[in-house]
Amino acid sequence: MHVGILTGGGDCPGLNAVIRAVTLALINEAGARVTGIGRGFLGLLSRETRRLDPDAVVGILSQGGTILGTHNRCDPFHYFGANGADVSGQAMAYARELGLDALVVIGGDGTMAIAHRFHLLGLPVVGVPKTIDNDLCHTDRSFGFDSAVAVVAEALDRLETTARSHGRVMIAETMGRYAGWIALEGGMAGAADIILLPEQPYQLDAVVQRCREREGREGHTLICIAEGAKPVGGALTVAATIADSPDPLRLGGVGALLQHQLQPLIQSEVRATLLGHVQRGGSPTPFDRVLATRFGWHAAQLVRRGDFGRMVTLAGSDIASVRIEEVANKNRPVPNDHALLQAARGLGISLGA
Ligand code: F6P
Repeated sequence: MHVGILTGGGDCPGLNAVIRAVTLALINEAGARVTGIGRGFLGLLSRETRRLDPDAVVGILSQGGTILGTHNRCDPFHYFGANGADVSGQAMAYARELGLDALVVIGGDGTMAIAHRFHLLGLPVVGVPKTIDNDLCHTDRSFGFDSAVAVVAEALDRLETTARSHGRVMIAETMGRYAGWIALEGGMAGAADIILLPEQPYQLDAVVQRCREREGREGHTLICIAEGAKPVGGALTVAATIADSPDPLRLGGVGALLQHQLQPLIQSEVRATLLGHVQRGGSPTPFDRVLATRFGWHAAQLVRRGDFGRMVTLAGSDIASVRIEEVANKNRPVPNDHALLQAARGLGISLGA
């Protein structure tokens, strides 16, 4: 059996842990040959491959990033390098030339959409859910999320001490695209006083009121805002538009916007910190190392059983799987009645309503 592995979309802590687990499980349990494809689906066009054996994956469990490289703009069905032409046939021909019996695709909803289209063309694929945003459907967790939340929590801990010393309002802006999972869990873990999510546009008045209350009592305020958050009646804050990307909008800057909205209305000084790619880099947490390893082992079992067109998932504390088409190009927002939102409201944390 010859199995390919690729990592697509933005990188994320835990990718290497999945690569290691898939490689070791397929070699040890099935005597398979394993090949890494470089830079996501681009490697199927540019013919970038490398042999993965036990030596190739030594010491990578705890390493951030991906040893294979990745790409978040390469969709062979709409390839930017060929003016948007469909070059999937070229990628299929290379997969056939390599003699791949299966391809393990590690990525988010966009990568799964591409994987599904290759599956329909006859390439046997298995998916593994990756994203720090935790916004993939049908899985309670994607690996990488816990690591991002840990970064946000630590950042808030650090912002709190300086906020307290200076009597300031400190705003931390998190990643997460159109979902508020990182801001919600990070904000709760870092004891934010105000948490603002894309799922619920914020009322500036409510934020001002909470900051003024705290000005008179605690003297400082910690705000955790998701990059996809927006004021009531306002629009997304877009940092850049990347025309040839499947998802062209790059969000960023809503923390600075809130700073400028708030500053004239309250006495304390307001400062904003954009956490940015710090949330995506570095070592995975122990939770993510274990989750990524479990996902990788289960993906190898799907390959061994010939159970293709499926993505492994976390359902409660169990690993399960779902048809890839059910997650392709779909997002999972934080539901309004989510238990953590109820807890936040109960603790008196403002959600900007
Ligand atoms: O999807 C992961 C993510 O980090 C989002 O949270 C963020 O909006 C986006 O990727 C940033 O993408 P890029 O690395 O292309 O700027």
